[in-house]
Amino acid sequence: MWFAYLLLAIAYLLGSFPTGYLVGRLAGIDIRQLGSGSTGATNVWRNVGKFAGIVVFITDFAKGMAAIYMMQSANWLMTSLNIKAVAIAQNELSFLVIGAGMLALIGHSRPIWLGFKGGKSVATGVGILFMLNWLVAIAAFSIWLATMAIWRTVSISSIAAAAAAPFLMWTMQGNMIYASFVTAGCAFIIWLHRSNIERILNGTEFTFKSEPKT
Ligand code: G3P
Repeated sequence: MWFAYLLLAIAYLLGSFPTGYLVGRLAGIDIRQLGSGSTGATNVWRNVGKFAGIVVFITDFAKGMAAIYMMQSANWLMTSLNIKAVAIAQNELSFLVIGAGMLALIGHSRPIWLGFKGGKSVATGVGILFMLNWLVAIAAFSIWLATMAIWRTVSISSIAAAAAAPFLMWTMQGNMIYASFVTAGCAFIIWLHRSNIERILNGTEFTFKSEPKT
């Protein structure tokens, strides 16, 4: 089991890799001091530019995918690396996979390298969702796109997709363990958007109606 715990720790470290902060530093800014203060792709797009935002999104998405893939491959990894540890049973593996997912989500928003202040875990969450059920991820992303076309406000779209994803997971995927995790993970993501919700309600939320920098 020690090997599984090691992979859980690596999942947190993967999630906490501060892509947005590093890209901001390369551009000569501290992204935490600008816009929403988030280290996520949206704030980087807004303050550094479109290309930088896309790089951050893809990398953060990949962090979520990698955390899940790594845990799903735990037994294979042990064998290939010739590590002497007890093989993980299939029923335990599902719990470890969602544990890796939750730790990657927490790592992104609470990174050890940045005093536990990071992003809102949306891109990392989509990467995780994609690995659990790619059809659910595509359906949630379609909701994100549709709401973005209407309101042109990333936080509204992220909240809408995060609110819909548990429903999609429960209806499209038979695995109750994964569906429960997606429900908890999306509740966490919506909770991370509480400052956005405040701004949406008082009409001061950042939108892409006029401000994107290219
Ligand atoms: O993906 C995060 C997005 O939903 C909100 O980002 O920077 O506007 O708080 P931001």
